[in-house]
Amino acid sequence: MPEDLSLAALGTLETICRELAVLAGELIVRERPAHLGVADTKSSATDVVTVMDRRSEQLLQEHLRQRRPQDGILGEEGASVESASGITWIVDPIDGTVNYLYDIPAYAVSVAACTGDPAGEWESVAGAVFNPVTGELFHARRGGGAFLRTTGAESSVTALFVSGERELGQALTGTGFGYDADKRAQQAQILTHVLPQVRDIRRAGSAALDLCAVAAGRLDVYYESGLNAWDRAAGQLIVTEAGGVVRGAGPQPSRDLTLAGPAVLVEALHDVLRSAAQ
Ligand code: IPD
Ligand code: CA
Repeated sequence: MPEDLSLAALGTLETICRELAVLAGELIVRERPAHLGVADTKSSATDVVTVMDRRSEQLLQEHLRQRRPQDGILGEEGASVESASGITWIVDPIDGTVNYLYDIPAYAVSVAACTGDPAGEWESVAGAVFNPVTGELFHARRGGGAFLRTTGAESSVTALFVSGERELGQALTGTGFGYDADKRAQQAQILTHVLPQVRDIRRAGSAALDLCAVAAGRLDVYYESGLNAWDRAAGQLIVTEAGGVVRGAGPQPSRDLTLAGPAVLVEALHDVLRSAAQ
């Protein structure tokens, strides 16, 4: 059962995360239609779905059903299977869909194995995020550290550590914005408080890759409101296994707020966000 997950069981989950993230990542690059269009919209006219979001999720779901028939699945494009084992796979078939639509090489497949209730309290125990354009695969399992593997001719494995920066004023800060216009107006308002207090802001367009950038020290700190479980399930474990902290307005990240980075920067940024909201 999940509480007694052995090192071997965690290793198996991490391997599946890695293999499936790469498999789906290769699919979305290889079969990206030359004239990719919008198949559908979700929460707003700019919250788009492409045919490849659906195909990627279908591929992930088929493999998980075959390899892990007792496990649950929660996916951004609607996959919803209840868990009989205590493990649920939380998957984002393309994180950074707008980048994918515009052929901007900052999108990823995110696969995480989680314990608990995906509609309530849950914990990621293994995860992988694959950017199929750069060939970068970020991965972690609980207690095992976080790693970046590059594929291709120059393959390498690097252990990840969050930034050593301690001053918020020097911190390169990542964030993102939701798809709802009112929510975006609030996020822009909060940003006017954050921007003067940090080195600069980056909005790369994929929360999963933003979290991995924090784990790799490419961003000092990151915050966003409105994230769904699939945006952050793998990335948040990769941050904590790289020595960082992930929290929300309270101790746990939530849809209201996700903050990630070295503890000292996360706390300083949390203070700024709290006073900005008052
Ligand atoms: C989005 C991206 C984006 C973040 C949004 C997410 P999607 O996911 O992660 O960076 O700012 O909050 O919804 O729609 O590309 O899967
Ligand atoms: Ca996403």
